[in-house]
Amino acid sequence: MSIRQKILMCAPDFYDVEYVINPWMEGNIHRSSRLQAVEQWRGLEKIVREHADVDHAIPCQGLPDMVFTANAGLVLDREVVLSRFMHPERQGEEPHFKRWFEKAGFTVHELPKDLPFEGAGDALMDRARGLLWAGYGFRSELDSHPRVASALGVEILSLRLIDKRFYHLDTCFCPLERGFLLYYPAAFDAHSNLLIENRVDPEMRIVADETDAVNFACNAVNIGRTIILNKAGEELKKRLQAAGFTVVETPLTEFMKSGGAAKCLTLRLTEPAIHRHERARVRVESRILRMEGHLLDSGLLDRALELTVQNGGSFKILNFELGAQRQSTSKAEINVSAPSTEMLERIISQLIDLGAVPPPEDVSDAELMPVALPGVAPDDFYATTIYPTEVRLCGKWVQVAEQRMDGVIVVGEAAGEARCVLLRDLAVGGKVVVGIKGIRAVRKTESRDLRESSRGVEEFSFMGAGVSSERRVELVVDQIAWELRRIRERGGKVAVVAGPVVIHTGAGEHLARLIREGYVQALLGGNAIAVHDIEQSLLGTSLGVDLKRGVAVRGGHQHHLQVINIIRRYGSIAAAVEQKVLASGVFFECVKQGVPFSLAGSIRDDGPLPDTEMDLIRAQKDYARLIRGAEMVLMLSSMLHSIGVGNMTPAGVRLVCVDINPAVVTKLADRGSLESVGVVTDVGLFLSLLVQRLEKLQAGGSAA
Ligand SMILES: NC(=O)c1ccc[n+]([C@@H]2O[C@H](COP(=O)([O-])OP(=O)(O)OC[C@H]3O[C@@H](n4cnc5c(N)ncnc54)[C@H](O)[C@@H]3O)[C@@H](O)[C@H]2O)c1
Repeated sequence: MSIRQKILMCAPDFYDVEYVINPWMEGNIHRSSRLQAVEQWRGLEKIVREHADVDHAIPCQGLPDMVFTANAGLVLDREVVLSRFMHPERQGEEPHFKRWFEKAGFTVHELPKDLPFEGAGDALMDRARGLLWAGYGFRSELDSHPRVASALGVEILSLRLIDKRFYHLDTCFCPLERGFLLYYPAAFDAHSNLLIENRVDPEMRIVADETDAVNFACNAVNIGRTIILNKAGEELKKRLQAAGFTVVETPLTEFMKSGGAAKCLTLRLTEPAIHRHERARVRVESRILRMEGHLLDSGLLDRALELTVQNGGSFKILNFELGAQRQSTSKAEINVSAPSTEMLERIISQLIDLGAVPPPEDVSDAELMPVALPGVAPDDFYATTIYPTEVRLCGKWVQVAEQRMDGVIVVGEAAGEARCVLLRDLAVGGKVVVGIKGIRAVRKTESRDLRESSRGVEEFSFMGAGVSSERRVELVVDQIAWELRRIRERGGKVAVVAGPVVIHTGAGEHLARLIREGYVQALLGGNAIAVHDIEQSLLGTSLGVDLKRGVAVRGGHQHHLQVINIIRRYGSIAAAVEQKVLASGVFFECVKQGVPFSLAGSIRDDGPLPDTEMDLIRAQKDYARLIRGAEMVLMLSSMLHSIGVGNMTPAGVRLVCVDINPAVVTKLADRGSLESVGVVTDVGLFLSLLVQRLEKLQAGGSAA
């Protein structure tokens, strides 16, 4: 015969919504009725009493949420792990509940002060499986799980909550008697859902839909075959009944204004001892990493912590040394944890990209695995980024050559040599860097002064956001003009990536002029820009439209085909220039000035022109060759080619992306590196302004 359960409740004498610490409280401050709350609480207590004994904690003025006793602590047998509340608003409850448990004869375990864990709100016994499901993501820290596991000697499975409305595990997850589970899957990340599905057979899983979930159907009190809850839909009730449960509904709407219902208002005190393990069983893995640089003003630390949390991990800053002077750097030592090795490695590989390194005592050589199939990397390969990267080989850090994004690192025969290689170029036997050991990305120190000196304080203030608005375009153009001058004066290299819109907007003449005047050292595009540029030169139209008059020309829709045909007859654009057939325009200037160009083909190309490379692998190689050594890449209204070029370009190269669509600009400018700038504007206006500014600079003398 089962023993009668004991439940802890706390009367709502001082209950009210007094602050906002979850989305349910928003807009509800002082909007709950005490009278109605008392009535609803009594209704719940009465039903609970029919199935269990009720003990009471004494309510305290100023602690309105004490009514939610589920958050007093986590009880197992005669032991309790006291809650450490995340929000100061609830921390005052801790000593009251501590006293209550001590008086009631429980052994009280306390967690460190700065380690949030919100008791049975975030940790639920699965009696049938003899384990504890523990939530994290909003209120409890993942790092509390190993502490709880060792305090109680239980196995813990960590579940990450991702929907703010379901901020405690017990708002969306309810293990029931005999191994059933009532839960709302969308409140959890994919990894957690997989964990649940691996442990709970499909016939035991009772899934609540969103309507039931927001009615707090999962925030249920299960005593024997009875389930007490605020409200459940007919469908859910039927499924629970089919599983042998009786559902008792009792309205708790006043408490929902604070984000709680039946389960939150109760704490089961008679949790039978489940199987205790000698050693804590919990799958939380952690690693210590260090970061150094202008961690605060460059936002690097913030990005690192955000990435950790977004990827399901947790962090603790073990040490932080703040660089006191403007020029001095800061140092941080961070403990990063995650509920699985794969998740931890995923987080760490992203932190490595931000420049994080393990402490010296944990540094080891990079792990290498041979390529078994041509063009196929071993699993777990490290994917490269735009940042200069080093790998540790035979105890020495070696700089990776040909840095680019989305490659793998291949170590040469002579250890001491490593380079970025694309998947398709991997040869059998090549040694590929795998895992996360012995890899570090070298992030340029992004100090305030450095940024200011490279751009001028005023420019930085809007460029810092990466994307400028229309009204600030003139300022950016000024600066780009100045940089173009400087690069030309020192014999540097600028590559331009351009789409056909440059021609359609009438800006072909400006681009041609930039080429003629030596500001461009390589031009990358597709079939279309060349076709329309040549159409403009030969027939005075672009896509059949007379740009000067802005009207479509009769029969103009065939112009581009006629042009393609003409160039095909001569064999190449250069040949057409030599034969004086083509005597103006962007591509004419390229041929005349000896500026190399590369046209990458696409599925929508007409013709194509003989110069268009339809073998995309060859086209990519050609692009990569032309970008090499560029100090600046100007990307002008071609999403396809600009993104392609962005992936090939290492950090340190200034990218300027001009597009009318902010989404395209954001995608390209958001490389996390200082050098990229996005300009949301019409490319025609941009180029005409740029040419004017260069003219002005020319008139004013040297840019140095
Ligand atoms: N006849 C042809 O052969 C033909 C014609 C068109 C395109 N194509 C090919 O299709 C591929 C993609 O072409 P794409 O580069 O034109 O397209 P895309 O979609 O990659 O890029 C066009 C970009 O221009 C932007 N844009 C549009 N108007 C603008 C303006 N006024 N100012 C600034 N930005 C503006 C858009 O927002 C977009 O991001 C290329 O390979 C191209 O050669 C071939």
